Amino acid sequence: MNQAAHKIVIDGVSKQFIAASGNTVEALRDINLTIGENEFVCVVGRSGCGKSTLMNMIAGFLKPSAGSILVDGAQIEGPGKGKGVVFQNLALFPWLTARKNIEFGCKQQGVGDERRARISRELIDLVHLTGFEDKYPFELSGGMQQRVAIARALAIDPLLLLMDEPFGALDEQTRMGMQNELLRIWSSHKKTVIFITHSVAESIVLADRIIVLGANPGHLKKEFKVSLDRPRDRLSPEFVELEAEVQDALD
Ligand SMILES: Nc1ncnc2c1ncn2[C@@H]1O[C@H](COP(=O)(O)OP(=O)(O)O)[C@@H](O)[C@H]1O
Ligand SMILES: [Mg+2]
Repeated sequence: MNQAAHKIVIDGVSKQFIAASGNTVEALRDINLTIGENEFVCVVGRSGCGKSTLMNMIAGFLKPSAGSILVDGAQIEGPGKGKGVVFQNLALFPWLTARKNIEFGCKQQGVGDERRARISRELIDLVHLTGFEDKYPFELSGGMQQRVAIARALAIDPLLLLMDEPFGALDEQTRMGMQNELLRIWSSHKKTVIFITHSVAESIVLADRIIVLGANPGHLKKEFKVSLDRPRDRLSPEFVELEAEVQDALD
């Protein structure tokens, strides 16, 4: 396949950090990975194996120490346009209402008032927050805040949605609701999604493909294609079998 056929081409990427102690931490070593257009990829791996580092490099927040990352054939220069990022810790602006949070990125990009209002109205509807648009983050439940964060990431109509353990802090029930919601959004607004999780079950519910990272240094350990039909039944024998296989690769 030629490179243009891929959304993201990660070629020989390594990343080292200098820790506060002065020691070098090798976070990732020689990552080679290609991700297709509209593909939903989940990255799983133990804490500290470099998942967030990988995502931050794809987002353009960090530069690789070696190797290159191409998005749509172009080397990443910095955070830039076209990428929606949902962080582990949400990072909503507490002084802005849900609507203003959602509109923030559009406003920064200079999208006019009328168009911005229409975009946020559609997204508020999409993530089922109608009636809550003028609330501040502290007035919303964790699940609602998460939906605001997702709507905010979608508002700039990103080609690429990067999500770093976005549902980690939610209770199981809310989390399952959000997984369904995300799949619904993904199937109606096709995008390339890279989703980090440490839940194997979550990765199987969501992904077209699961990338397992190993640690010390972070490396690509194994990958699994998930070809089960969606919505996926967590109790089906195929699901349970794959869950055991991925878990096995993690251990
Ligand atoms: N800014 C940094 N400075 C020094 N070390 C870092 C920095 N960011 C991450 N690391 C180290 O790199 C490794 C990978 O971290 P991270 O990507 O956050 O892992 P994960 O998201 O899989 O838990 C860890 O050993 C972590 O301590
Ligand atoms: Mg992390």
